[in-house]
Amino acid sequence: MAEKITLSVIKADVGGYVGHSAMHDDLVNKARECLGKAKGKLLIDFHVTSCGDDLELIMTHQLGEGNEKVHKLAWDTFVTCTAVAKELKLYGAGQDLLADAFSGNVKGMGPGVAEMEFVERTSEPILIFMADKTSPGAWNLPLYRIFADPFTTAGLVIDPKIHDGFKFEILDVLENKSLTLACPEEMYDLLVFLGAPSRYMVSRIFRKTDNEIAATASTQKLSLIAGEYVGKDDPVMISRSQSGFPAVGEVLEGFSFPHTVAGWMRGSHHGPLMPVSFKEATPTRFDGPPRVICAGFQLANGKLIGPRDMFDDISFDETRRLANQMADYLRRHGPFEPHRLPLEEMEYTTFPKVMEKLAGRFKKMS
Ligand code: 13P
Ligand code: 13P
Ligand code: MG
Ligand code: MG
Repeated sequence: MAEKITLSVIKADVGGYVGHSAMHDDLVNKARECLGKAKGKLLIDFHVTSCGDDLELIMTHQLGEGNEKVHKLAWDTFVTCTAVAKELKLYGAGQDLLADAFSGNVKGMGPGVAEMEFVERTSEPILIFMADKTSPGAWNLPLYRIFADPFTTAGLVIDPKIHDGFKFEILDVLENKSLTLACPEEMYDLLVFLGAPSRYMVSRIFRKTDNEIAATASTQKLSLIAGEYVGKDDPVMISRSQSGFPAVGEVLEGFSFPHTVAGWMRGSHHGPLMPVSFKEATPTRFDGPPRVICAGFQLANGKLIGPRDMFDDISFDETRRLANQMADYLRRHGPFEPHRLPLEEMEYTTFPKVMEKLAGRFKKMS
C-alpha cells in the first residue's frame, strides 16, 4: 500500500505588530529556525507564513493526525516565538496560548488546527486558506459553494468523478457533537445548520463515492476555551483539488463573493471576508475588514512545492471592491446590530458586566 502523508496546519497569534494588524519578521524567522531543526527528522517539509497577526505553521510528515510530537513541535515553536514577541513588546504576546504547559495535543489549548492524512496522488494540488479577524464559521458558505453548489463548481455536473457529490461533517461547537450530511440529497437539511455559522461549522468534507478526504477546517473557538474574549479564532482550512476534487479555480471561486462573517474589531462585528494577496493580509481599517489568503502548493513526496499566492490576481479585484463598499456600509451602523454581533455572541465581552452593574436599576413593568 502506498504510504500516507499527513499535512498539518497549526496556527496561533503569539503577538501582533503593530497592534493586531500584522506579523513581525522576527517571529516568522524564529519559527522557521525552530521547524528547520525538525526537517528531515520529524517533518518532511514545512512552510511558515502569516495572515494578519497570526503565525501559520504548514508541515508535512508521516506521523498521522493529532500526533503528539508534531503538536509539541508546534507548541514549542509558539512558546519560543512568544519570547521574541515579549522582547519586542509586541501586542498580545502569547495571546492564543491558553494553557500553561503542553499536554499531548494543541487542540483545546488555543492554537487552531487543520490536519489531513492521505495517499499523495500522481499530482496533488493543495490549497491552504488562512484567515484573520474572523471565526471558523467563516468557511461554511465558501465550503458549501465549493462542494455542493454547481453554480460554483461545474465539475459537480460535468465531472463523473465528483458527480455523486460530497459529505459534510459539521460540528456543533456548543454541545461538542458532530453530524454528517450528504449532498446533494440532504442539501436542505445541511443548510439549516451551515446558515448558523456561530454554532455549526464544517469540520471535514469527504468524497461520497469512496470517503476520500477532500477538505478540513480548524474549528477551535477561543472564547469557549477561555470563557472570555481573548481574540478571534482566525481559522485555517485545507482543500485538495483537481482530478476527483473541485478544480483549483472552482475552489477559489467559492471566495468570489465577500460574504459577511463574524470578527473584525474586537472580534465583535460583522464584516465582509476579503480575499487578498499575502502582502495585503494586514487588516488596518477598524482592525479589518476580515482577510483570507490562499497558499497553493503542489505536493511532491511530501515536499511543499510553493507557495503560490492564489488571491494575488486581478480577477479578485471586484470582490475586494465590493468588500470595501460593504465595509463602508456596515461601519456606518457604528455600535448597532447587525454590524455589532447579536447579544448571545457578546457574552464574552463587557455585556454581562454592564448588565450586572445595572441589574438593580431595571424596573418591573406592570
Ligand atoms: P487544463 O486543460 O488546463 O488542464 O484544465 C483542466 C481543468 O480542470 C480546468 O479547470
Ligand atoms: P485578533 O484575534 O486577530 O488578535 O484580533 C483581535 C482584536 O481584538 C481585533 O480588534
Ligand atoms: Mg491579535
Ligand atoms: Mg488574528
